[in-house]
Amino acid sequence: MSTAVSPVHSLDLTDPATFVTHDPRDFWREVRRRETVYWHEATERHPGFWVVAGHADVQSAYNNPEALSSARGTVLDVLLRGDDSAGGRMLAVSDRPRHRLLRNLMQRAFSPRVLHGVAERIRQRTTSLVGAMTGTGPFDFATQIAEHIPMQTICDLLSIPEQDRQQLLEWNKRTLSSPTPDADELDSLSARNEIVLYFMELADERRLRPGDDVVSMLATAVMGDGVLPLEDVALNCYSLILGGDESSRMSAISTIRALAEHPDQWQALREGRVPIDIAVEELLRWATPAMHFARTATRDLVIGGKDVRAGDIVTLWNTSANDDETVFEAPGDLNLSRTPNKHISFGHGPHFCIGSYLGRSALNALLRSLVESVADFELVGEPTRIYSNFLFGYRSLPVRFRPRGRG
Ligand code: HEM
Repeated sequence: MSTAVSPVHSLDLTDPATFVTHDPRDFWREVRRRETVYWHEATERHPGFWVVAGHADVQSAYNNPEALSSARGTVLDVLLRGDDSAGGRMLAVSDRPRHRLLRNLMQRAFSPRVLHGVAERIRQRTTSLVGAMTGTGPFDFATQIAEHIPMQTICDLLSIPEQDRQQLLEWNKRTLSSPTPDADELDSLSARNEIVLYFMELADERRLRPGDDVVSMLATAVMGDGVLPLEDVALNCYSLILGGDESSRMSAISTIRALAEHPDQWQALREGRVPIDIAVEELLRWATPAMHFARTATRDLVIGGKDVRAGDIVTLWNTSANDDETVFEAPGDLNLSRTPNKHISFGHGPHFCIGSYLGRSALNALLRSLVESVADFELVGEPTRIYSNFLFGYRSLPVRFRPRGRG
């Protein structure tokens, strides 16, 4: 393990405050300049772990599930506290062969026909929300627009009955990354339990009367020697909320901030000089909503010239890989026409984001509706960052949308 502790390497990545007090772009540039793989020293409360910051190393680590397991957990906080209780049962935190079986199963519910319908509803919702807020004066993009799209999308995918959605949204709100250091962990845990219990009941019903949604698909699937236990069905339904809600919201909010701060890029988009699909990829790179994912080494291996031992925690920093100057020219510039764009905002390899089509559709719908109805944006107050070492984004973004064709 590396023993050299430079000032930049001594920043505490276990502490969410680090990501609020330091500009992440400057911090990671400095890390890559010095040492792209390094050992993060143990803190008073936590054991040490590896930090992988270069694009090539992050990508090949994602592609090495035999040596780097997801089953103990894939988020640093969880791994530092112990094992993920859903390990081996929930798609994101399972390894082969279980992971492949679950993934094939869930993939069936993400059929082009289902996705097409879900994406169409994303477009309708986005157009109506953006239309309603354009020209109205200052509003909070996070709570007035971004908050209303991803959870409804996931509810569509799971065919959650309309009358249950409000309750599910409320429980989910209580589980989210906190805006402050003193969030109530117990309350968050009890809300998570409510969600899992809700999905267990729903799975029980769908087992009797299945539809073509993810819940029914999982509830009726036969794996190995029988159907999946209801709790496993529920955990995998919940994993769509865990994977898709905050990440999509953060990408939408960061998109607005990025466009407001780069009026030249917004003009290029608005005037049709940049294809929307290409712009979406750059906005995903720029925002990198999931800053890191993590793995546990199952055997000794070498990453970026460093000797990683079996049992070590390895963190893969997408946020740094997406800014790696050996892959991206002028990575610190937002360039909506950037091609190729090999960002790894959706990960890479066997755990590559199963919701990437929907994540992209949501940004595509947002850009399309902005281009159709908005002339320009103005940030009208200080955005509030979420307090997290896992997700990057804002809890609130005060903004004004001026309508197209008027002053
Ligand atoms: C996996 C990012 C949207 C569900 C992942 C991974 C990343 C990611 C980086 C890889 C995790 C790993 O390797 O351990 C994002 C971003 C999104 C987004 C940035 C939005 C911009 C969504 C949506 C859904 C979703 C909309 C659900 C509808 C999942 C699930 C996994 C996953 C279930 C685990 C896949 C597996 O382990 O095979 N996501 N995601 N994500 N994502 Fe997403």
